[in-house]
Amino acid sequence: MSQYRIATIPGDGIGVDVTVEAVRVLDAVLPGIEWTEFDWSCEGYLRTGAMMPADGPEQLAGFDSILLGAVGFPGVPDHVSLWGLLIPLRRAFSQYVNLRPVRLLPGTTSALRDRTAEDLDILIVRENSEGEYSEIGGTHNPGRPDEFVLQESVFTRVGCERIIRFAFERAAERGGRLCSATKSNGLIHSMPYWDSVFERIATEYPQVQTRQMHVDALAAEIVLHPDRLDVIVGSNLFGDILSDLAAAVTGGLGLAPSGNVNPERTGPSMFEAVHGSAPDIAGQGIANPVAQILAGAMLLEQLGETAAAAAVDRAVSEVLAEGKIRTPDLGGKSTTTDLGTAIAHRAAELANLTPAETH
Ligand code: NAI
Ligand code: MG
Repeated sequence: MSQYRIATIPGDGIGVDVTVEAVRVLDAVLPGIEWTEFDWSCEGYLRTGAMMPADGPEQLAGFDSILLGAVGFPGVPDHVSLWGLLIPLRRAFSQYVNLRPVRLLPGTTSALRDRTAEDLDILIVRENSEGEYSEIGGTHNPGRPDEFVLQESVFTRVGCERIIRFAFERAAERGGRLCSATKSNGLIHSMPYWDSVFERIATEYPQVQTRQMHVDALAAEIVLHPDRLDVIVGSNLFGDILSDLAAAVTGGLGLAPSGNVNPERTGPSMFEAVHGSAPDIAGQGIANPVAQILAGAMLLEQLGETAAAAAVDRAVSEVLAEGKIRTPDLGGKSTTTDLGTAIAHRAAELANLTPAETH
């Protein structure tokens, strides 16, 4: 039996449906998790005027981890939902790493012709606490012909060093290749600074092969030569865009998980799918739960439950490879619950095998 206390914030739209399935799968591989649900959402915002209570971070601080569905829904501007919940939590708990594994899963088709699972296995490490997503700036002379807006970026020494070092560590563990996303030809202050930190930290990791690419060229590289990439590190904005692109060239948003990680564990980390609340299919019970289930596997991994995490991961691959149960985004007719239940069953079987048998 596990002793973990995990908070869920199902949020809006399909966030609710896919979170139910992730909880089902985690319960199947690790019985005894104590779940506490927080109903913070856009609906709540319309009722109370806040995405979460003022003491929201304090309420979550004692949990071992957080599983987040998605927040955002028509009727509430996206910057309200984002800045009212997601960004404050990421910052309150120093979740300065946004980790986005991008893999081509068996039984799914890449948007890229002739690519297989071997060609597409990338880990995107996105800075998650500063950079281009800053509150500094404002609108000046509003409504006048000389109206202008300023939006500042913040790149701190501590912030750049810790994310770049984290990426070097992951690259050293994996294939030994790290590519940094830059744009020093356009952003002439922040990006040369980022590059200089990257080059300095690179000297500590002689075993890691490095590249620095302008983010536009790197975007093209993900499409044309994904096999040349292993770990990618990028600022908040660049990492955000590249990870949606990478998710799209694999099996789509329904399959891509992410983690907001506090590597020092001074606060809970928070795991979520890359996708949003998908208002266009909300309430239909047809969302693909795989991204959220894989986010659950990342959560287990971060808690040190590597065998349970591996069972979930393997169950997803096997059920997708079998191809009998597919949600509409994968070309099938199954429901969210059909797919979640099938993965939970398989994961439970795999979790009961000895570790040697699962590999
Ligand atoms: P979205 O990711 O919600 O949807 C984009 C497209 O992908 C839609 O056609 C949707 O049906 C499809 N899709 C997404 N997830 C799917 C799944 N699991 N299964 C099947 N199809 C899926 O992005 P969109 O429409 O730009 O945003 C909708 C709302 O979600 C907005 O309010 C946005 O701010 C919010 N959002 C929240 C995020 C978060 O909580 N971290 C992340 C991204 C968006
Ligand atoms: Mg995004």
